[in-house]
Amino acid sequence: MSKKLFFLLMIAAVLSFAGLMLGQGQGRGGRDDQLNLPDGPGKDILQSACTECHNLQMAVGTGYNREEWGLTLERMITAGAKMTPDQIPVVTDYLLKNLAGEGPKPAVIVPGSVTVSFKEWGLPTKGSRPHDPWAAPDGSIWYSGMYANVIGHVDPKTGQIKEYHLKTPRSGPHGLVGDKEGNIWFTANSKSYIGKLNPKTGDVTEYKLPEGARDPHTPIFDQKGTLFFTVQGANMIGRLDPKTGDIKIVTSPTPRSLPYGMVVSSKGVPFLVEFGAPKVASIDPATLAIKEYPLPHEESRPRRIAITSDDVIWYSDYSRGYLGRLDPKTGNVKEWPSPSGPTSLPYGITTYNDIIWYSESGVKPNTLVRFDPKTEKFQTWTIPSGGGVVRNMMAMKDGNLAIAESGINKVALAEVKK
Ligand code: HEC
Repeated sequence: MSKKLFFLLMIAAVLSFAGLMLGQGQGRGGRDDQLNLPDGPGKDILQSACTECHNLQMAVGTGYNREEWGLTLERMITAGAKMTPDQIPVVTDYLLKNLAGEGPKPAVIVPGSVTVSFKEWGLPTKGSRPHDPWAAPDGSIWYSGMYANVIGHVDPKTGQIKEYHLKTPRSGPHGLVGDKEGNIWFTANSKSYIGKLNPKTGDVTEYKLPEGARDPHTPIFDQKGTLFFTVQGANMIGRLDPKTGDIKIVTSPTPRSLPYGMVVSSKGVPFLVEFGAPKVASIDPATLAIKEYPLPHEESRPRRIAITSDDVIWYSDYSRGYLGRLDPKTGNVKEWPSPSGPTSLPYGITTYNDIIWYSESGVKPNTLVRFDPKTEKFQTWTIPSGGGVVRNMMAMKDGNLAIAESGINKVALAEVKK
């Protein structure tokens, strides 16, 4: 598939689908011919460099300041926008003057007794779009630099960052997970393979997916070391045996269900959320039979998933702004409105010691949210740098949280005081 088509599909799936259908696309999804761009320096560049993958409505009403536009434009350039870094100031001036707008709502902050502090690291390649973090057992953080085509490693003790460049250009590394030998496995979202990076040598082994299995999304190991993964764009779920390289793939029973985030239960059963449907699903690790669990609200779009020690499923309902709880044993669902409300876009989510942590990606700044299932109480913090859409987070072994900040090119560690 061409790069352009890929981006169109990705935007269709991720933005129009998630954002526009949610009614917040008023300013951002319409057609360019409704845009009356005043003349001025930078207009030509915008019209030529910014219309290849999406229309210019995308740049309307972001509420971005100069720094945020700088980071966004760097990310678009790394994604492939035909513009040079020295054109950033003039384009930013134009955007600030003509397409400013209000941007997302401020976050609602819920105080509480837990103390959290943040450390954040800027990444070496500009606009790399760190998508997911993986919290390694040694206390370090791996991340996928989706647009920079790298798997990166942050050592929080020294602040040292190392990037491993992938051999296939524009692979679009997306989700990642480590194995027991220290290899990092990732989904190559743009090139339809599963990769295995050996950090000792920098070598990458590529496991090509069958024809049509596009947009592999989240990889995860079960307790036996078998890799499971969602294939968002192709509406599929797969299994890879690392010993033989054998791949089996099945299709979700719900059309266009966008199989998304995934976890594995204590019994070795993978569970996933369907971002294109109001459903959670599980997959039989042996037969790959899929069982779906409907959520009570038709408009729900669960985007990421987490699990507690009782094998209860927690999900971020991106479209409705809720935190949800599904007990697969009974099918019962309970939901809580996220503190910042219906447009808060809850996204990256994880658990530690049966406490739920997630981020609201639709408020400015993005928040870190803590939810205690025992007391049903929320506490929230703003992420100091703004977060820039936290697409995923993961608890470290010690209960701190590894956070990828996709829009602002940073990786963060939230230190939770014990
Ligand atoms: C090579 C394809 C491509 C080109 C060219 C491109 N974009 Fe994007 N743009 C994307 C993709 C993919 C997304 C959605 C994912 C993301 O946010 O990174 C996006 C999202 C956006 C967003 C919304 C997300 C955010 O962070 O606010 C804005 C604003 C934006 N683009 C502005 C621009 C501008 C301005 C230009 C011209 C300099 C441009 N884009 C050129 C691919 C492109």
